Amino acid sequence: MCGIVGYIGKRDAYPILIKGLHRLEYRGYDSAGVALINPQQVLNVYKSQGKVSALEDTARSQDLTGSIGIAHTRWATHGIPNHTNAHPQVSQNGRIAIVHNGIIENYAELKANLLKQGVHFNSDTDTEVIAQQIAYIQEVEHLTMVEAVRRTLQQAVGSYAICVLDNAMPDTIVAARKGSPLVVGVGDDEYFLGSDASPIIEYTQRIIYLEDGEMVVLHKGQKPQISDLEGHERPYSIQHITMTVDDLEKGGYPHFMLKEICEQPQSLAACMRSRLVENEICLPEVDKDIDMWLNARRIIITACGTSLYAGMAGKYAIEELAHIPVETDYASEFRYRHPVIQKGDIVIAISQSGETADTLAAIDQAKQNGAKVVSICNVIGSSIPRASDSVIYTMVGPEIGVASTKAFTAQVTVLMMIAILLGYRKGVITESRYRSLVNELQALPQKASEIIKRENTIRDMAQAISFAPNVLYIGRGYNYPTALEGALKLKEISYIHAEGYPAAEMKHGPIALISQDMPVVAIATDSPIYDKLVSNIQEIRARQGHVMAIVTEGDKKVSQMADKTVCIPATAECLSPLLAIIPLQLLSYHVACLKGCNVDQPRNLAKSVTVE
Ligand code: F6R
Repeated sequence: MCGIVGYIGKRDAYPILIKGLHRLEYRGYDSAGVALINPQQVLNVYKSQGKVSALEDTARSQDLTGSIGIAHTRWATHGIPNHTNAHPQVSQNGRIAIVHNGIIENYAELKANLLKQGVHFNSDTDTEVIAQQIAYIQEVEHLTMVEAVRRTLQQAVGSYAICVLDNAMPDTIVAARKGSPLVVGVGDDEYFLGSDASPIIEYTQRIIYLEDGEMVVLHKGQKPQISDLEGHERPYSIQHITMTVDDLEKGGYPHFMLKEICEQPQSLAACMRSRLVENEICLPEVDKDIDMWLNARRIIITACGTSLYAGMAGKYAIEELAHIPVETDYASEFRYRHPVIQKGDIVIAISQSGETADTLAAIDQAKQNGAKVVSICNVIGSSIPRASDSVIYTMVGPEIGVASTKAFTAQVTVLMMIAILLGYRKGVITESRYRSLVNELQALPQKASEIIKRENTIRDMAQAISFAPNVLYIGRGYNYPTALEGALKLKEISYIHAEGYPAAEMKHGPIALISQDMPVVAIATDSPIYDKLVSNIQEIRARQGHVMAIVTEGDKKVSQMADKTVCIPATAECLSPLLAIIPLQLLSYHVACLKGCNVDQPRNLAKSVTVE
C-alpha cells in the first residue's frame, strides 16, 4: 500500500530511486514521483499519474542530478490518483518534500488550522498537510527540519511511514514510521530507505528495522540516529538479510504470478526443509511452548483474504487431528467485534506481508485480552511477527505477484504440520497415521510439480471460462476453503465475478443461478464425502450447468459427468487443498492472460494492505 524509497550517499540518487520504485510497484501503481536535491541545492520534483514507467517518461530530459532523494509509488487513499495528488508533496514555500505511506486521520483538523494561517493547498491529500505543517512549524518556531518533523508527528494521528527532504539541509533525510513499514539499508557511506528491503538488497544486505513511533535521521558522513518522538535516542543493531536480487526477478517467466505458482515445488520444500528432520515434524516454535499448545482451550485464527482461507483449511485439520476447537475470523471483524478471549486461548495470526493493518490490530486486541499470539508470516522482521509472542516463518522468499499463491500453500503447510504434530503429541492420531502423514508431506513437492506439468489442460479449461460473467466454485470439507481461495484468485486478477460455496449449500439458494452461462468449478478430490459431492454435481448437470472439475488421478464418476477435468495426484485428505489449489491458481492466471488483464498488478489492489 504505497511504496517508499530513499537514498543519500555518493552516487546519483535517481537511478537507485527509479529501480527501487519498480521493485516496490507491487505495493501500489496509480501514480509515482521523485524528489531530488541537486548540487546547487535546488529541490526538483517530478510526478506522474500511472505507473513508474510513466514517471520515467516525464523525468526524461529533466535535471536528474543529486545524490539525495526520495520517491514514491502510490495506492490512493485521499484524493483521486492524478498528478497533483501524487507524492512527493511539497510545502508552499518549496522547501519541504515528503513521501508518505499510510493515513493521517486528523488531517482535516490540521488542514483547517493551517488554512486559517493562510497556507494554500494544492492537493486533496493528507500527505500535503504533513508537508505544510512541517514547513509552517519550521518558519513560525524557527526549528530545524528534524525538530519540525518531530513536532508535526507528535500532532499526527493515524499511520505513516514518511521520508522528508528539506532543500536547506541538502545532506539530510529524516524518516519515521508508525503502523506502516520502513527499513534502513546501511551501505558504505551511503544509506537507503525502503518500505521493505526489496529496493535495497541490490546495494546492501545490512538492514535496520525501525520500530513503531521511531524517527531516523540520515546525514551524509554520519551514523544513523534513531530516536522516539520525544527525542530519546536508542541504540540499534544492524541485521543481515538473506534475500537476493534473483528472488526479486521474474526468472524468465512472463509474470511474477506464474513464476510463483511454478516455484511451489521448491517453496513447499523450503517451507518444510528444516521442519521435517529424519521423518519427524520438528517445529521448535511450537515445541518451546508445547504445554501451552497441548492444553489450549481453543485456537482462534485471524487473518485477511487468502491468509484467512489458509487458516480455514488449518481449522479443519487442527480440529480433526488434534481435537482442539478452532474459530476463524476476518481480522477486520475480530478487531472491532469485542471477541470473548479467555485464558488458555491461542490466537494464530496469518500474514504473508506481515504488515496488514487489520491483522496487526487484531493481534493488539488479542494481546490486550491476555491471549498468546503466534503468527505465521512470510516477511522476516515485518511488523506482525514483531508484535506477536512467537512466529513461524513460511520461508518461501519474496512473493511479488499481487495475487497470493506460494504464500498460501506455505501457510497451509505450516498449519498442517502444527495439526499433525499436536495430534500425535496428544495421542489423537496413531503412530502409523502420523508416519503416513509425514510421508505425504514429504511427497508434496514432487506431486506439485506433476500438477504444474498439466498446464496445457488447465489452459484449455481457462478458454471455457474466460467468456463467463460469473463462475461458482464448490467444494466440501477441506476443500471448501480451496473453493473460496480459487474464487478469490479468479475475481482479483480477471475481474470475473466468482463465489466459493460449500457444495451442499447450493440447494439453499445459489443453485437458482445455474444456467449454461454460469460455469461451476468443482473440487471433487478423493474424500469420505466424495459421493456426496458427486450428487451435488449431478444436481448442477441436471440444470444444464457446465462443470469443470479438479479430481484425483484414477477418478471415474466425476470425470464422466464434468465438461473438463484436471487430475491431481492422490494425497492425504487434509493435505489435498495444497495440491487442489495449484490448478485453480493456474486457471485464474490463464483466464486473466486470455482476457488481457494485468496479472501482476490487478486494478485497485495492492500487495500489502497497510491501511484499514
Ligand atoms: C489475495 C491476497 C490478499 C491477501 C490479504 C492479506 O491474493 O493476496 O487477499 O491475502 O490482503 O495479506 P497478508 O497475507 O499479507 O496479510
